[in-house]
Amino acid sequence: MTYKNLLLHSDNGILTVTINRPDKLNALNGETMEEINAAFDSIYTDPSVAAVIVTGAGEKAFVAGADISGFPKQTPEQAMEFARMGQMVFQKIEDCPKPVIAAVNGFALGGGCELAMACHLRIASQNAKFGQPEVNLGIIPGYGGTQRLPLLIGKTKAMELIMTAELISADEALKLGLVNYVVPQDQLIPKCLELISKIRTKGPFAISAVIGAVNDHYKKGFDGFTSEVNRFGDCFRTGDCREGTTAFLEKRKPAFRGR
Ligand code: COA
Repeated sequence: MTYKNLLLHSDNGILTVTINRPDKLNALNGETMEEINAAFDSIYTDPSVAAVIVTGAGEKAFVAGADISGFPKQTPEQAMEFARMGQMVFQKIEDCPKPVIAAVNGFALGGGCELAMACHLRIASQNAKFGQPEVNLGIIPGYGGTQRLPLLIGKTKAMELIMTAELISADEALKLGLVNYVVPQDQLIPKCLELISKIRTKGPFAISAVIGAVNDHYKKGFDGFTSEVNRFGDCFRTGDCREGTTAFLEKRKPAFRGR
């Protein structure tokens, strides 16, 4: 597939997905959301992709939100479909069996903050700003912000941020637990690569199981503890489990194969 609003760059098993509408601060229009959806469909199935970095083009914005330009004319039904579609795409990112890191290189507002929150880890550059400013527009977050922000930083502060539309700095986001690290802009991708290279020394099956089990805790109708039991058992069906445990006992490094 050819992408109009995404740049995809693959290097040594790491796919960097760059939202590329810098003149609109990488705002997510419908076409971009469809492309993100398609990109993640292929990430799920492409064995050459081991990990993903999601970032925005330029040094000003990660993503400045859903594209507001079509909002004034949207009917309530279209708005609901818009939110449903966005939630589906971001759920796909959150459930991705391969590690997905957001490299937040500037404004992460509205849908941009929601996109970052759907990723498994978030690294921010020092100039990054986070927020859910939708109430400024007379609307609410629609891509999962009312649900994921309280999960990540707690209800008290999430309520405040969403109700005041206040933007916060990268350092404040770090204090609140919204991001994993804050680094200078030029260290953003290197920091993501450092984390990915650490994760890639582990069993890929186990990493997918971690993502699934942690996410299941927060899913409606799922019992995270039962999910953990099942996934713990699944690990024992893999050669990686035998390899990892045997390697420990033999005092050598494991050679995981992802199955
Ligand atoms: N949707 C559509 N276009 C957007 C956008 C969005 N969410 N965010 C920025 N843009 C566009 C602007 O309209 C402008 O386009 P133009 O040059 O054709 O006029 C361009 O991106 C640059 O933005 P601008 O506002 O001029 O930059 P700034 O540095 O003055 O302000 C922000 C940056 C991020 C503070 C400001 O763009 C903003 O508040 N954006 C909307 C954030 C938001 O409410 N997001 C939630 C959406 S639900």
